[in-house]
Amino acid sequence: MSQDATSAGQPVGIAGIGAYVPERILTNAELSAMVDTSDEWITTRTGIRERHIARPDQAASDLGAIAATRALESAGVKAEDVDLIVVPTITPDMVFPSTACFIQKAIGAKKAACFDLEAACSGFIFALETGRRFIESGAMNTVLVVCTEKLSSIVDWQDRGTCVLFGDGAGAVVLRRNTAGGRGILSAILGSDGNLAHLLSLPGGGSRNPTSEETLRNRMHFLKMEGREVFKHAVNTMTAAARKAIEQSGLSLADIAWIIPHQANMRIVQAIADKLDLPIEKFYVNLERYGNMSAASIPVALDEAVRLGKIKKKDVVLMVAFGGGFTWAALVLEL
Ligand code: UT7
Repeated sequence: MSQDATSAGQPVGIAGIGAYVPERILTNAELSAMVDTSDEWITTRTGIRERHIARPDQAASDLGAIAATRALESAGVKAEDVDLIVVPTITPDMVFPSTACFIQKAIGAKKAACFDLEAACSGFIFALETGRRFIESGAMNTVLVVCTEKLSSIVDWQDRGTCVLFGDGAGAVVLRRNTAGGRGILSAILGSDGNLAHLLSLPGGGSRNPTSEETLRNRMHFLKMEGREVFKHAVNTMTAAARKAIEQSGLSLADIAWIIPHQANMRIVQAIADKLDLPIEKFYVNLERYGNMSAASIPVALDEAVRLGKIKKKDVVLMVAFGGGFTWAALVLEL
């Protein structure tokens, strides 16, 4: 696992990217027939028009394995060459073994060490920073980050306050020493505040509230969120983290070609744009078609923007996220 002599000292960056969203699309009109809501409410309050929903036989690792294979293809890297698989997810296939192990099996990454990472919607950036440090330390050459979420499996389909917000999908990247030009990861800010854990959580099924008839009766196995409180913290915290990450990179806002924010709510994105005094056109947003896919939101958006030719090699990209925990993260990267 020691590093190639040729690439040692090169910055760590994204060598390949891939994504997968399940085929089935659930529209706001369909949701309006399931709970007391409307296309008008969902669109004006969130910007979301539709989301993708996995088949019952698809688990998070199945979505993730497809995204991972696409990322490896795009990097020109063989699965056998992956040293580490990190899987940010809040919808693991099972409590254990890790979803990373299931993905390892599916793609045949025989020599990889595997673990899941729990930082909710901030998981992609937490994992990029983790992978970067493993590579910079010299311990690993090739890290595969696979964000995969089947949020439809933890959403309460009777709760109109949350079920309209989320979707399923997966995005993956290959991290390596970058020999192709871009300066790779330039800075990263990670943060958490466990005092606010109660505002966004899934309380049932863990060691605090093991599964029982009572937890099932109280619908504790579904995601719970105090939306308005989360909204407020998300705007302020993501704005501050974005500023810090830019400062730490030694760049200025003017150097940033694209911002990929966590895709939870168009009003949150607009509020961050206003606070940073940036035009909304600098933000890559696709939440209208996917909803909030937690950790998978940013890599799916990045994959799409790169495939569409919007984000190009050498563009400086700022990613910023916020989620349950609370957790938050921002990262500046030259592709
Ligand atoms: O990914 C992790 C981070 N998560 C987020 O960033 C989510 C942050 N929160 C939000 O995006 C927003 O708070 C929501 C979209 C969840 C809610 O929007 P809001 O503008 O904060 O609405 P609200 O919760 O204050 O509710 C306003 C009204 C309420 O009715 P009353 O009390 O004013 O009569 C709700 O009961 O809207 C009602 N409502 C709905 N009505 C129709 C809540 N959900 C719905 C719905 N359809 N789906």
